[in-house]
Amino acid sequence: MSLDKRIKLKNGVEMPVIGLGTSLRGKPNKVDNQQFIDSIKHALNIGYRHIDTAKAYNNENLIGQAIKESSVDRKEIFLVTKLFPDDMGFEKTLKAFEKSCKQLQVDYVDLYLIHFPGKPNKPDAQLEKSRQLRLDSWKALEKLYNDGKCRAIGVSNFMKRHLEELLEAGMSLPMINQCEFHPYYNNKDLWDYCNQIGVQFEGYSPLGKGNLLNDDVVLSLAQKYSKTPAQILLNWCLRNNVITVPGSTNLERLEENFNVFDFSLSDSDVDLLWNLNKNEKVSWDPTNVV
Ligand SMILES: NC(=O)c1ccc[n+]([C@@H]2O[C@H](COP(=O)([O-])OP(=O)(O)OC[C@H]3O[C@@H](n4cnc5c(N)ncnc54)[C@H](OP(=O)(O)O)[C@@H]3O)[C@@H](O)[C@H]2O)c1
Repeated sequence: MSLDKRIKLKNGVEMPVIGLGTSLRGKPNKVDNQQFIDSIKHALNIGYRHIDTAKAYNNENLIGQAIKESSVDRKEIFLVTKLFPDDMGFEKTLKAFEKSCKQLQVDYVDLYLIHFPGKPNKPDAQLEKSRQLRLDSWKALEKLYNDGKCRAIGVSNFMKRHLEELLEAGMSLPMINQCEFHPYYNNKDLWDYCNQIGVQFEGYSPLGKGNLLNDDVVLSLAQKYSKTPAQILLNWCLRNNVITVPGSTNLERLEENFNVFDFSLSDSDVDLLWNLNKNEKVSWDPTNVV
C-alpha cells in the first residue's frame, strides 16, 4: 500500500505531506551556510517540494538563495514561513510578511503561519493585550490571503483556547495548526479537536529531535517493516493524516526521510505508537500563553 504525497487543504490548495524542516536551533551537528544551502538544493533534487522555515530560524535568505540556485521552479515548491512573536499586531504583521518575502526573494508564500500565540503572560493587564495581538495578527493574515500574497494561512502552537478565541471573535479558522507531534508528545486532544473543527493538523519535531530513534518499540517496528526508526515515525504521522517536517542537513538522512510512502504501518502498530505518549515536549510550550 502506498500513501498519498499531498493533502488538500480546505481551500483546495494541495500541500505536500512531507516537508523539509529547516530550523537549526539546538542541532548537535552544526553546518555552515554553504552546507545548509547545498542540503536544501539536494532535498529539492530528490523530490522534496515543501520547505518549512520561519523568521525565527534566521535562514530565510539562505533558503531564498537555494531556491534561486536550484533547478526546480519556484511554483513547484510549497514554501512556508512564520510570523515572529515580536512582530504581532496588524501593521507589524503586514510589514514582517513583506520582509520575509524579501529575504526569501519571492513575491508570495504558499503558507504563512503565526508562529506562536504570544508570550507567557504574567500580569492580568497583559492578557487582553495578548488576545488583541493574536486577533489583529490573524486579521492581517486574512488580508494577505485575500490579497493573494499567500495561498494558505494558518497558525502554529495554538492550543484549543486560542482557536476558540478566533471562533468567538467571528473570524475564520486557520487552515493549518502546526504543533509538536511525535509518539512521546502526541498532542492527542488537540489533534482530535483540530480534526473535529476542520483545521488540518501539521506536526513538527517528528523524531522528537532524535530522542525517539532508540525507543524499543520504534526499533522493533523498524525491524518488522525493514525500515529505519525515522521512517517508522514519519509513516506514523502520515497514517494519522498529519503533515510533517523532519529536519536534516545530512544528504543520506534527507533521502531516508523522504522515502516513507511505499509502506503503511498496520492499525495495531499505529496504536502501539500512540500508546508511547509521555507528554514529553522537546520544543517550546504554549501552555502559559493566555
Ligand atoms: N512551529 C514551531 O514552533 C516549530 C518548532 C520546532 C520545529 N519546527 C519545525 O519542525 C522541523 C523539525 O523539527 P526538529 O528539527 O525540532 O526535530 P526532528 O525533525 O524531530 O529532529 C531533527 C534532528 O534529528 C536528526 N535526524 C533527522 N533525520 C534523521 C534520521 N533519519 N536519522 C537520524 N537522525 C535524524 C537531525 O540531525 P541531522 O541534520 O544531522 O540529520 C536533527 O538533529 C524544524 O526544522 C522546523 O522546521 C517548528
